[in-house]
Amino acid sequence: MLVHYITLVLSVLLISSPISYSNSRISLVLTDIFDVVEFGAIGDGKTDDSPVLGNIVGSTNKTDWMSNHGDSWLLFLMVSGLTVSVSGQIDGQGPIWWENACIGTPSPGISCHAPVALQFKRCTGLRLNGLTHVNSPRVHITITTCNGVIVSNLHIIAPETSPNTDGIDISGSTDVNIRDSVIETGDDCIAIGGGSSYIKISGVMCGPGHGISIGSLGHGGTDVVENVHVHNCSMRKTLTGVRIKTYQGGTGYAKKISFTGIRFDAVNNPIIIDQYYCPTHQGCLTSVSIMPTFKLIFFSCKL
Ligand SMILES: *[C@@H]1O[C@H](CO)[C@@H](O)[C@H](O)[C@H]1NC(C)=O
Ligand SMILES: *[C@@H]1O[C@H](CO)[C@@H](O)[C@H](O)[C@H]1NC(C)=O
Repeated sequence: MLVHYITLVLSVLLISSPISYSNSRISLVLTDIFDVVEFGAIGDGKTDDSPVLGNIVGSTNKTDWMSNHGDSWLLFLMVSGLTVSVSGQIDGQGPIWWENACIGTPSPGISCHAPVALQFKRCTGLRLNGLTHVNSPRVHITITTCNGVIVSNLHIIAPETSPNTDGIDISGSTDVNIRDSVIETGDDCIAIGGGSSYIKISGVMCGPGHGISIGSLGHGGTDVVENVHVHNCSMRKTLTGVRIKTYQGGTGYAKKISFTGIRFDAVNNPIIIDQYYCPTHQGCLTSVSIMPTFKLIFFSCKL
């Protein structure tokens, strides 16, 4: 029954072929459920229902979202072998969330929290190809504690002024390959967080936004990131280009990191390595005389 339900929902979500999955522990959070049987799908697990086309549009009822769904809108948890290869669109209706963003000092009594549009957690063998994502309330896609991911031909679009609208955030994940995509947002194009290794990014066009970032690492603990290779990417009209950010007092290491063949066009700060990151601007160390405990090892940059 669960699998049947998921088949239907995925058919709406994922528009045109092929869709596959092999793990029964799937959790999906939607504000509304559309029964694709009404649109001609069979949903017997054998028939190819993928010609059922559609776009997914978020609810504009903030109260409903926050009370029922917490910090995620579309969530895939512990799915193995999921392939999403389509040409549809996910519209997060971001503008209603952006006015109370969690940056600076949010107005008292007003929740600044906004959901991530599409989350993958503890997934293995994930393939994402061809979707267009627009205007997420916050980060467009998060890949957390996943293993073996290929992301290709995505188009992510949010205005330059939209707050916290990262394109793709990766953390705690291994063997992630992102290629041939266009990411235009108000924040990081791709951010790679702690616990990530064997990450390959190539053929990605970023901008506007804040470029490709490793970090922020070492916030309240030890973070390790290794084997991250960013190649043949371009940054256009971005605030920063490629960055490594580690918190003041953070511990851990980032090793075997390379940025090669990166093109910059109208970028304010093409390369930033900040080992004294202090985004709150409160209680920040002002002296750089203390050696950072965070180590950068085998770092190479041939642009
Ligand atoms: C928004 O959602 C809340 C909680 O589900 C509900 O009580 C309220 O009627 C909804 N508002 C509108 C305008 O639909
Ligand atoms: C580099 O990336 C661009 C997309 O930005 C792609 O069209 C091109 O084929 C890539 N070049 C190589 C050598 O992979």
